[in-house]
Amino acid sequence: MSKRQLKLGANLNGVGNSIAFWRHSEIPTNASVSLEFYKQQALKAEEGKFDLLFIADGLYINEKSNPHFLNRFEPLTLLSALAGATSHIGLVATLSSSYSEPFTVARQFASLDQLSSGRAGWNVVTSPLEGSALNFGKGEHPQHALRYEIAEEHLEVVKGLWDSWEDDAFIGDKENGIFFDSSKLHTLHHQGKHFSVQGPLNVARSKQGYPIVFQAGSSEAGKELAAKSADAVYTAHETFEEAKAFYQDVKTRAAAYGRKAEEIVIFPGIGPIVGRTEEEAEQKYQRAAELVDIDQALNYLGRYFEHYDFSQFPLDEQFPDIGDLGSNSFRSTTDRIKQEAKEQGLTLRQVAFRASTPRSSFIGTPEQIADRIQAWFEGGAADGFNVRTVVPNGLADFVDLVVPVLQERGLFRKEYESDTLRGNLDLPIPLNRYTKSEEAV
Ligand SMILES: Cc1cc2nc3c(=O)[nH]c(=O)nc-3n(C[C@H](O)[C@H](O)[C@H](O)COP(=O)(O)O)c2cc1C
Repeated sequence: MSKRQLKLGANLNGVGNSIAFWRHSEIPTNASVSLEFYKQQALKAEEGKFDLLFIADGLYINEKSNPHFLNRFEPLTLLSALAGATSHIGLVATLSSSYSEPFTVARQFASLDQLSSGRAGWNVVTSPLEGSALNFGKGEHPQHALRYEIAEEHLEVVKGLWDSWEDDAFIGDKENGIFFDSSKLHTLHHQGKHFSVQGPLNVARSKQGYPIVFQAGSSEAGKELAAKSADAVYTAHETFEEAKAFYQDVKTRAAAYGRKAEEIVIFPGIGPIVGRTEEEAEQKYQRAAELVDIDQALNYLGRYFEHYDFSQFPLDEQFPDIGDLGSNSFRSTTDRIKQEAKEQGLTLRQVAFRASTPRSSFIGTPEQIADRIQAWFEGGAADGFNVRTVVPNGLADFVDLVVPVLQERGLFRKEYESDTLRGNLDLPIPLNRYTKSEEAV
């Protein structure tokens, strides 16, 4: 086995990221709110020795939103249920730093971490959609830069709260009636620009120290936040070159914060389409793509741009010049869409279908997909992949057909190395900051 091992996440999303996924006969129409459906997927991913389950989220919908967004489980609640159904796989929930209180977030993730014996992770997002503000009574949706400023302080507070109790604080001395050692309890007293939080937190650390912190957001500010404070990054790239440039950029930034390259694990998202032959894979893609019509594709595209109405433009002319639109929302994604449209001279129709029914470059036979994964992994573009389901049975096909090839090549584990997420990701357990400072004395 080669020393460095590939990491895999299963990005589970009920009736699908793509608009028409729910229409396939194999997909239950209630998949996004079916515990049974998620359990099956989770167990399949665990059978495939995946590192983690990953649940994305959003805070605003309207009638143009994708079916999955309209009626779905809240991620932490879902993963709490899945914690009981699984034993080794990590449980990563998305939660917004723009619309949550650090005390609650620290508490919820610490709880999930205890419930799952050290398998929790938090995907920190800043919430792209302006409409989110309407659901929280907080006035204006914060601008992109401000959202990241808030995220940085938020994360700092959460980590501070996670250190409230040193690992050996709860002594439970029944004879002498001493439940905890008060010298091992620490109150944060945080007073910052955006948050004022006293602490301490009313949950102790789990055996993995802190839950894993994921970051999703690939703009300059997003990369900076990841480099400074995240254990893992979820990102999206079409090409190897793009992914490699991103990977190296984040690792270089992390080094500037005194961190080792292997202390931050980078997971590009992929939507593999596996066939026993190339033709079979292509047919699966075509069947999925044919279910999406142009109006749905325009809606899908529009969501990235604050639900902008693209139907006002001619479909078969050059993608319209929409200026800055999108930069306060899914900035890294909207920048990429605009740039590709311009550089490749794409029409609106092409852009809409590319966004809504992307033809994954991870398509083909199991060996072809494994080749591509290996090339990205060994070529410095990825430490692992977050696998989305884009065709029916996508996850099962990946586990049954691609994982064995990766295992055979010594790229991926045959058994879990650890029963914590941090252990499987090969990340160090962060020492409690108070224990650390005592040791330094
Ligand atoms: C790969 C990827 C996944 C994301 N997943 C989510 C998500 O599940 N929920 C969410 O609210 N925002 C998500 N975001 C949005 C970011 O958190 C952020 O609000 C937005 O992209 C703007 O940040 P950026 O310009 O740094 O990418 C995601 C962004 C990327 C790039």
